[in-house]
Amino acid sequence: MESNEIRNKFLKFFESRGHKIIPSASLVPEGDISVLFTTAGMQQFKEYYSAPLNAIRDFGAKNVVTVQKCIRTGDIDEVGDATHLSFFEMLGNFSFGGYGRQEAITYAYEFITHELGLTISFVTIYKGEGIVPKDEESRNIWKDIDSNLDIREDGADVFWGPTGNSGPCGPTTEIYCKNANGEDVEIWNIVFNEYFCDGSREKLDKGEAKLSKLETLGIDTGMGFERLLAIAEGKKNVYDTDVFNSENTREDRIIADHIKASLFIISDGVIPGNTGRGYVLRRLIRRAVRFSKEPLANKIETIKNLYKGIYNLDDEKEIEKEEKKFRETLEHGMKEFEKGHDAFTLFTTYGFPLELTLELAKEKGIEIDVEDFNKKIAEHQKLSQTASVGMFKGGLANHNEQTIRLHTAHHLLLAALQTIINKDIKQRGSNITEERLRMDFLCDHKLTDEEKKKVEDWVNEKIKLGLNVVRREMPLIEAQKLGAEMEFGAKYPDVVSVYFIGDSPKSDLGANAKEKKSLSPTSGNHVSIEFCGGPHVKNTRELSEFKIQKEEAVAAGIRRIKAVLV
Ligand code: ALA
Repeated sequence: MESNEIRNKFLKFFESRGHKIIPSASLVPEGDISVLFTTAGMQQFKEYYSAPLNAIRDFGAKNVVTVQKCIRTGDIDEVGDATHLSFFEMLGNFSFGGYGRQEAITYAYEFITHELGLTISFVTIYKGEGIVPKDEESRNIWKDIDSNLDIREDGADVFWGPTGNSGPCGPTTEIYCKNANGEDVEIWNIVFNEYFCDGSREKLDKGEAKLSKLETLGIDTGMGFERLLAIAEGKKNVYDTDVFNSENTREDRIIADHIKASLFIISDGVIPGNTGRGYVLRRLIRRAVRFSKEPLANKIETIKNLYKGIYNLDDEKEIEKEEKKFRETLEHGMKEFEKGHDAFTLFTTYGFPLELTLELAKEKGIEIDVEDFNKKIAEHQKLSQTASVGMFKGGLANHNEQTIRLHTAHHLLLAALQTIINKDIKQRGSNITEERLRMDFLCDHKLTDEEKKKVEDWVNEKIKLGLNVVRREMPLIEAQKLGAEMEFGAKYPDVVSVYFIGDSPKSDLGANAKEKKSLSPTSGNHVSIEFCGGPHVKNTRELSEFKIQKEEAVAAGIRRIKAVLV
């Protein structure tokens, strides 16, 4: 069975059982800066477990289904075996007060056995600990479905979540199937979100976080798509499925996995760097380079082609740029490594990530003083980590004048789309470089040439009008009342920064306090109001002519616009 057939089968199966199909969220979590990447399907829905009515407000449904792009680098050393990947897709069905254990388990059973014709080898249920009781209800449901089923009890492994610094979590039941090697592989995790944890999972495990019962039981399920494919296609490992190009050696598998992960990360607006997401990306690319004697170009093309028509992987040559730099420095760095192996110098001067130095050292049986490295780097990282959070939150790669202009144009573009195409259009990702802006947004159709022209004209008209761009700090409630554009799923502080475009130039009298008062944003006639930290130009006339370069699909229901100021 082809991969796309299974994706569609899954979505249709749940759609016909009352689920609304929602597009994959970006790999860069939009509302939760406590996690670097989207690691599970439920992340974009976190808030709905505590406030289920909001799901009806936002989706018009209590139950939703997704195919979610995910990045997990925690098991990077295991990538290359039969089941581990740093990029994978997760098939998931979710319910916020719509249904409970009975339906969740029955749906999963029907999908695996009836739709795909697979045999479940065993399932697990939570054995109970602390205030969370043993999950007898799930055991009974499974027993009713199949009295011969092997039902095993398990502990911490079958209690899921939370992601990030707090969130919903709960006991799970997992489904295992046998792969072509005869090994049991966990393919589906069905989580019963019955608790809210006020700290991270790490804290919860140490007894430093508290669980409180959620008012409504929520359902969160996740099925590893590539693992499922391997089993459904009768393949011995995930690299033999049709989302890979049959990679035979461990090295080739690592290269393919890392290139794939890098392509997806870049396509969601991250560029290689020394901290945060940029650092993870850099590490993936450099690891691929190190394992590959051949230039990566061919593999990059192959992987892009595998996802044609499903995901638009657009790396604008970022991987090759990083590869070129790294191949050059690798040579110098290797010499340095042979001489002295000071991990800090290798990192700062030669761009060797610590992991790489450690890997090389291990191959050569050399010890590295990690503590010394950490000490030296602590200061350096503290400074730049803060910067990286800011950078990705605003989506701005750097703050030179052209990016600031493009940032203001970005606000105008969103307002134009809402005015011309559909007032409910929501932004789902953005990225701005010196050259261009890029915006992903929810939209169910390809824009026509006429629509694109209208959007351009609208933006250019606002530029010509010379509208003031004004920043105001105000209470969150007030900003919400004004209908300010919020980032999807984001949590905001009580006082927020809001940018208004459209105060008439006349009211911009100057900087003294009295005059500022007359500039009350609430009294103006604004074309755009967005929650935003800036920076922006002062007046739209600082922008030149706005032009849409490209409009394309990135995933089902998500369109992408690239635009420039010429
Ligand atoms: N959120 C659950 C997981 O990632 C389904 O396994």
